[in-house]
Amino acid sequence: MKFEAIERFIMHLHPKKVSVQSIAFNRTFGLGGINALLFVILAITGILLRFSYVPTVEGAYDSIQYLENEVLFGRWLRNIHHFSAHLMVFTSFLHLVRVYYSHSLYRKRAKNWIYGLILFLMVLFFNFTGYLLPWDQLAYWAVTVMTQLVEYIPFVGKAMAQALRGADTINGHTLLNFYNLHTSLLPIAMLVFMSLHFWLVRMAGGVATPAGVQREMVDTRKSLVPREALVAMIVIAALVLVSAVFNAPLEEQANPAVSPNPNKAPWYFLGAQELLLHLDPLFSAFIVPMLVTVLFFALPYFKYDQINSGVWFHSERGKILTIESSVFAFVYTFALILLMDYVLKTAMSGLPVWFAGGVIPVLLYVLPFAAFIFYKNKKQQLQTAELFQIIVSSVLTSYIVMMLVSQFLRGEGMKLFV
Ligand code: HEM
Ligand code: HEM
Repeated sequence: MKFEAIERFIMHLHPKKVSVQSIAFNRTFGLGGINALLFVILAITGILLRFSYVPTVEGAYDSIQYLENEVLFGRWLRNIHHFSAHLMVFTSFLHLVRVYYSHSLYRKRAKNWIYGLILFLMVLFFNFTGYLLPWDQLAYWAVTVMTQLVEYIPFVGKAMAQALRGADTINGHTLLNFYNLHTSLLPIAMLVFMSLHFWLVRMAGGVATPAGVQREMVDTRKSLVPREALVAMIVIAALVLVSAVFNAPLEEQANPAVSPNPNKAPWYFLGAQELLLHLDPLFSAFIVPMLVTVLFFALPYFKYDQINSGVWFHSERGKILTIESSVFAFVYTFALILLMDYVLKTAMSGLPVWFAGGVIPVLLYVLPFAAFIFYKNKKQQLQTAELFQIIVSSVLTSYIVMMLVSQFLRGEGMKLFV
């Protein structure tokens, strides 16, 4: 095996020299590289899965069973694809979080933040389309929940859901649509955006590091490449092992007549499903997600009084504010969910939906955070970057709480156990 050839290929992606500061593990945690590696693993295992997968209503489920029981290492291959896909949602999210909190998204990196967000949406879309392919009960009904979420978008939602499904309900056309999106269109789009993303990292002069620190340059081949190889080996070993021990779920064949109870979306969409339980669909499937998306896309472009590129949490005070707002959001979101479920829903049952399922819960959520920010600003004169850090931390934490509640505390009929 010629390692030199591999090394030469890798060197096309890197400059000859990198700074010691930019390759410190606690700067990137290797997360961008891990995402790239996971995509390669998914592409290889995905292409191999195509050899036995049949994208028809009659054939899909049987082809997965055949793959698992008859094909040599078939089950293991499917498991690797399954676990890598879920891991990639997690590591892309962590990468987004690391880029944001290390303040590496401003000025010349702003465009790359946008490409990154598009990559994140693609990872979600990959998972969404892949989810249907096994054509078991889990796949059918989880995708039903998700396409219903799309339907709630005003004006265009119905047409979008119809275009996605290729029909009024999920059927063979949907399966073929998803299969083609998943195995041809999305991989090409992902490759294009990943290439642009890497190129923009190079164009920005590599990973952001704090200004004013003397940059010490070292040979990439001797410093960064061996570390990348080590991280890659650990990730591959972990995936191979986990896939040998645990199996990707496969329930009974999809049955459009029998809906499971509770019918839950995949874990990463559970926050959105939880929101649907509390708010009118116009708010939960459109207004709130739209506002959050616009906030994330606009983050690098607000007017900041000071930008500390590459400095974790902007400042020491920024770090404390992040911790405080996250803890507050964790406790308050949980309390609000309980309050909505046990008290307010019955108390507001006679009121119009836009009020009881929109204005009231939104105000109940926003006002305490506004009071928190107002109080902190009065005491400490917050900088813009710190202010947005409070908002982003609160939104991210609230989503995580909703995901956890929906996953672990909701049972039949999506009722709370607690
Ligand atoms: C899912 C596929 C993705 C891949 C393969 C990927 C890959 C990378 C790599 C290799 C780097 C340089 C090293 C590092 O930070 O680890 C990087 C940096 C960066 N990524 Fe990503 N990324 C992905 C998703 C995202 C997402 C979801 C975001 C955020 C919205 C993002 C925003 C950025 C930005 C702004 C930089 C520059 C950071 C800096 O200069 O310190 N990327 N990405
Ligand atoms: C070139 C790239 C890819 C190809 C050719 C491909 C192909 C396939 C095929 C044929 C299946 C059906 C087999 C099965 O369900 O077990 C599948 C399932 C799936 N794929 Fe992919 N895939 C690719 C990339 C990805 C990526 C990048 C992701 C996520 C980030 C992903 C996520 C999934 C998921 C979640 C499933 C369902 C797995 C399960 O059974 O639980 N795939 N893929």
